[in-house]
Amino acid sequence: MRYSKYSTIIIGSGIAGLYSALKMEQQVKLPDGLLLVTKSKLGESNSKYAQGGMVAVLKENKADSTSSHISDTIKAGAGLSEFNTVKFISENSDKVVKDLLKFGVEFDRDENNNFCFTKEAAHSVRRILHSGGDATGRMIELALCKKVSENENIEIYEDTDAVELLVTSGECKGVIVYNDNTQEYETIYSPVVILATGGIGQLYKYTTNPIGATGDGVALAYKAGALMQDMEFVQFHPTALAVDTGENRFLISEAVRGEGAKLCDADGVEFMSKYDDRRELAPRDIVTRANFNEMKENNVDNVYLNATCIDSTKLTRRFPTISKKCLEIGIDIAHDFIPVAPAAHYYMGGVKANLRGETSIKGLYAIGEVACTGLHGGNRLASNSLLECVVCAYSVSEYLKSIELKTPKQINESIKSIIDNYSNEDLILDELNIPQMKERLKDIMWDNVGIFRDEKSLMTAISELKNLQKEFPRMHKCLNREEYEFRNMLIVGMLIANCALLRKESRGAHYRTDYPETSEKCVHSVITKEQGVLDFVK
Ligand code: FAD
Ligand code: SIN
Repeated sequence: MRYSKYSTIIIGSGIAGLYSALKMEQQVKLPDGLLLVTKSKLGESNSKYAQGGMVAVLKENKADSTSSHISDTIKAGAGLSEFNTVKFISENSDKVVKDLLKFGVEFDRDENNNFCFTKEAAHSVRRILHSGGDATGRMIELALCKKVSENENIEIYEDTDAVELLVTSGECKGVIVYNDNTQEYETIYSPVVILATGGIGQLYKYTTNPIGATGDGVALAYKAGALMQDMEFVQFHPTALAVDTGENRFLISEAVRGEGAKLCDADGVEFMSKYDDRRELAPRDIVTRANFNEMKENNVDNVYLNATCIDSTKLTRRFPTISKKCLEIGIDIAHDFIPVAPAAHYYMGGVKANLRGETSIKGLYAIGEVACTGLHGGNRLASNSLLECVVCAYSVSEYLKSIELKTPKQINESIKSIIDNYSNEDLILDELNIPQMKERLKDIMWDNVGIFRDEKSLMTAISELKNLQKEFPRMHKCLNREEYEFRNMLIVGMLIANCALLRKESRGAHYRTDYPETSEKCVHSVITKEQGVLDFVK
């Protein structure tokens, strides 16, 4: 096993990871250097596929205000969004977005060079910046990847998975990483480990998330003893393209509805008015349940999105990626209905973190989708995620510039025993049929811990996940990346199912058919490995 040390390690190369690397390098003294570890190629992430855009309450947008954005976020959050968090993120959006521009990020502008703003569900005004029409994530990632790659002070490990955090006595001292190409492990000591590992969508049979979204950071932090919050809250997007083309489903952005598209059945009959006065622009959880309900009632695999009412030139200019993707499979969105169905999209739960990225473990920070800061509550408002990534990436570096970063010197017995779990080269591990086990897990989660849940389905999930655990007897060292991902998916799946079972109410994206009412008592769920569920807390 190789050993090394850095002043800071960032895990993940989505927008949270890349932007925090650039801000850390710019602002923080890093005597032992800065390392960015990513399990894919630089930039491969959920971020890269973001379409609709990024919320920004810009001073020049006279129609908007932070109070309006705060109010919309809190309303969508179903009682669980935390006011101070929402306020901080909203109030910092102008500053951070303008800082992003300095790193070469561009957003679409009109003929007068003013920013174009779009609207998505549950936003009361147009306040969402976009780039490349509907390629916002790709454009931001391109700009940030370029800056990170050009920066000689940022060392990059690609194709490298973080597989275990080195935590002892409530303090993180580094991380063990594994390279799937060389099958080599490395222990890296550092006083600061920033998790920016993204979401968990791949736990579900249908998801908009790319292949790498396997909840690694969530599982690693839980294994290491961190406080985890609101694990039962998974957001399902109402309109993924209902055509299977690989490991995930292509997203049809909410912004298409924001520009006027309508949901309908195969005959063009619209149905959203049956469910909510805000129709297509009701909060995401409501539209998702409406689509799912229509599909079940009519025994069909999808509903349709009718964008033919939007001017065709505008449609292709505004949504070039979506138009092209649909055309590739024979759907001309200017003339044809688009088949759509819900899919797992975003994780509101995660590692409990404050606005400086601090978790319950000293030296371990979490930013972006892996973190649960209390911004999104029970249901994320569209396009608030990219904003949270950049504001928290900015604020973690602001915070760390005031701290002297000393690389840990004394490695005690308990750290040594964690390392021993991975350095034993004599360990013989049998080959397992991981693709088949992954499929089973995804079916279990989709069928039982999905858009609608109840006690029976959740108990079924827990029992079937336990069976899978018995067939997968690894908690630490695994044979390859696929196994590490599966190990992490099992941990996270169990956490989601157990917390969902304990929340005996419906709130936001967590809908229990056996408890359809929202309880008057509005509380977070908090869980740790050592103590289990610490009851539902305020
Ligand atoms: P990610 O972008 O997911 O990056 C995580 C990184 O961590 C990846 O590089 C991954 O390879 C790496 N990683 C993971 N595990 C490990 C490990 N064990 N070791 C090393 N590296 C690891 N949000 C919006 O606000 N607006 C939108 O328009 C929008 N559209 C979306 C469209 C799609 C199709 C999807 C999937 C999501 C969308 N979202 C949108 C949500 C948003 O994109 C994500 O929440 C956000 O980009 C998360 O960024 P992140 O940096 O936290 O994580
Ligand atoms: C979308 O474009 O519909 C996704 C926006 C988001 O997830 O915030």
